[in-house]
Amino acid sequence: MSKCVETLSSMNKQFKNIQNHGEHPLKSRDTELYQQEYIQSFVEKWDELIDWDARADSEGQFFIDILKARDKQKVLDVATGTGFHSVQLLNAGFEVTSADGNAAMLTKAFENARTKNLMLHTVQADWRWLNKDVNGKFDAIICLGNSFTHLHDEMDRRRALAEFYAALKWDGILIIDQRNYDAILDHGFSSKHKYYYCGDQVTAEPEHVDDGLARFRYAFPDGSEYHLNMFPLRKSYTRKLMKEVGFQRVKTFGDFQETYEEKNPDFFIHVAEKKHTDA
Ligand SMILES: C[S@@+](CC[C@H](N)C(=O)[O-])C[C@H]1O[C@@H](n2cnc3c(N)ncnc32)[C@H](O)[C@@H]1O
Repeated sequence: MSKCVETLSSMNKQFKNIQNHGEHPLKSRDTELYQQEYIQSFVEKWDELIDWDARADSEGQFFIDILKARDKQKVLDVATGTGFHSVQLLNAGFEVTSADGNAAMLTKAFENARTKNLMLHTVQADWRWLNKDVNGKFDAIICLGNSFTHLHDEMDRRRALAEFYAALKWDGILIIDQRNYDAILDHGFSSKHKYYYCGDQVTAEPEHVDDGLARFRYAFPDGSEYHLNMFPLRKSYTRKLMKEVGFQRVKTFGDFQETYEEKNPDFFIHVAEKKHTDA
């Protein structure tokens, strides 16, 4: 390789390892952004942030129980990330397809599963045109880890939900979780750090919040820092969108509990049903 090509290739690698929120990061509010945010080095750090063991302890059987209680077997994980839920569900005996729009995330998920002697069935697919790449109909779709918040545009949210709806069987369910942005917007940020981002060496805090942007900073013990620019979904708004695309019933849990005070949970989990309950 010539010196010049070598330099270009190393610059290219470096570039791929630097998040790019542009000159004005607070103006960076684009649905495509997730591809530049989940760069290789951040993907490598993701499991430090979520800590699989602590997360498994805190979530317990919640999602497995919901799926089993409704007799759901064939599950599409649309926000696979590094594979935490896909692996949990495979271990629990579900038939799982693992999708994500980001290739680095999917590769990491595949590697993580291999270390646990599991083989993931992965598909790279953006939610906005999910059914172009994912075939078949599913009993359940999960979109977890505060992923839906990556859609910055209302049309993209509606498109993604419509694609999820179409990929479900007639009696399928969709499970989406999100941060309690209402509490953050109305009362400021506080976190029990008990669920989801369980790694105790890592800080995950908002750097800026307004009605159209929640910019979070993730700081790691080695001094590295990353950011995610997300759309702060209000709980009632997400529920409304789910109903408007056709889901008949949406039940919302707060930190895995059925009853809660609105401002207390760190996370909400919406379980949306496609069929009429009396169907
Ligand atoms: C916050 S991570 C969560 C990963 C995992 N579910 C977890 O709980 O650890 C969000 C994931 O959503 C994916 N994602 C974001 N926007 C997407 C889109 N429009 N289409 C497909 N995947 C997307 C990202 O690539 C990333 O892997």
